[in-house]
Amino acid sequence: MQNPDPEFVRFLKAYPTYQSTEALDQLRASEYARLDQDEHVYLDYTGGGLYAESQLRAHQQLLKENVYGNPHSSNPTSLAATELVEKARAYVLEFFHADPGEYLCIFTPNASGALKLVGESYPFPGGHYLLTFDNHNSVNGIREFATARGAEVTYVPVALPDMCVEAESLGEYLSRAQPGERNLFAYPAQSNFSGVQHSLEWIEQAHAVGWDVLLDAAAYVPTNQLDLGAVKPDFVPVSFYKMFGYPTGLGALIARKRALGKLHRPWFAGGTITVASVQGHKYYLADGAAAFEDGTLDYLNIPAVEIGLRHIAAIGYDLIHERVRCLTGWLLDELTGLKHSTGEPLVRLYGPTGSEGRGGAVTANFYNKDGQIIDHRDIEAAANRVNISLRTGCFCNPGAGEIALGISRVELDVCFTQPGHEQRLSVDDFRLCIDGKASGAVRVSVGLVTDFHDVQAFLSFARSLLQ
Ligand SMILES: Cc1ncc(COP(=O)(O)O)c(C=O)c1O
Repeated sequence: MQNPDPEFVRFLKAYPTYQSTEALDQLRASEYARLDQDEHVYLDYTGGGLYAESQLRAHQQLLKENVYGNPHSSNPTSLAATELVEKARAYVLEFFHADPGEYLCIFTPNASGALKLVGESYPFPGGHYLLTFDNHNSVNGIREFATARGAEVTYVPVALPDMCVEAESLGEYLSRAQPGERNLFAYPAQSNFSGVQHSLEWIEQAHAVGWDVLLDAAAYVPTNQLDLGAVKPDFVPVSFYKMFGYPTGLGALIARKRALGKLHRPWFAGGTITVASVQGHKYYLADGAAAFEDGTLDYLNIPAVEIGLRHIAAIGYDLIHERVRCLTGWLLDELTGLKHSTGEPLVRLYGPTGSEGRGGAVTANFYNKDGQIIDHRDIEAAANRVNISLRTGCFCNPGAGEIALGISRVELDVCFTQPGHEQRLSVDDFRLCIDGKASGAVRVSVGLVTDFHDVQAFLSFARSLLQ
């Protein structure tokens, strides 16, 4: 064995299949060398993925060797750009095994842009918006469209310690669909807070009782194959930089044509219409994806999406997933075993403590030897000093945060109705208000080219906090 490190030996004994993912070590050395040159311990893959050097080269070559014009025309450079954009669009569907007869790919600035498209266009009046507590704010934000248009809004709770939804209670919530076809159920395939992977079986369960399903796949698809040939959510938002790091500023709404037909856009823009008239005060929306893509597409970067997806496809999700499973499992096993001299555990984890039914995001708070919480900002500052990039706060997922941190509705109502805070509340005001409680947590997330040394570096950082 090349690496005689006893910790590595212990790890391999617990997770022997890690060795079958060695190709990712070679890939890291050849394509992501900058990580090790600068001794970065990057543990924020749920925040953003990392790009391979070859992605940059392929994209740059394309731009260097060709002339591309604005696609909304029929001149040669415009047609060349259109061809590339449409090729990338088709490949997005192929990548997710989505039948082009059934699904459309709409390019958006990011997952939030995809979510806003659904929110602003869904026929909420008289309907119901059902969503899990565990959701990113860009899914929570849709409730404002729903409420403004008179729909009922209901949250399905998640429960500690695993932060999962109880199967029976979900069935009960789903039975509350309104008559008519204006019911939207939204949940994340993988939580960006706890890493929990909520069941994809809910999609058919919800369809069967009258819901359209919005599956937020932003945190899931970087390390898991979403197979839209096997499961059929109606709306799927993704951010491409989370999958392969480059380019930023592009995402997609992958939508079922049948469900897309229900949406009514609140405005029109350049590119979204066939005909619009000033004097006639009339416009006709374009067919398909174009109706949802406002203005000029990011036509020079969209080809880099295809390059990135092909990069992931060439590696294969099986390999990525297995590596992430092994490293996450080890991280969890070791973290949960760390105890102070007093016997107090160093961390309290939010989410499943085993590697099954979860992805590579591990969220916790740290405690001192007397069982008192260490502020997550202090943990981040200490991690920064040893070049570890992790993330702290609530990760734009306040529902999961409130459950994990035990912040009650009553406490929140008190904070939000304090004199002077009806309209404005800073994070510091909020912290002061929930005095004594943590307002956030620490998240480390592993991904495509994480290796054992990254995890080992984090664990030795964690051990350095033992008293
Ligand atoms: C589960 C989930 N949904 C949505 C988003 C929003 O993605 P973006 O900020 O790229 O729009 C994120 C980003 O962290 C996420 O993790």
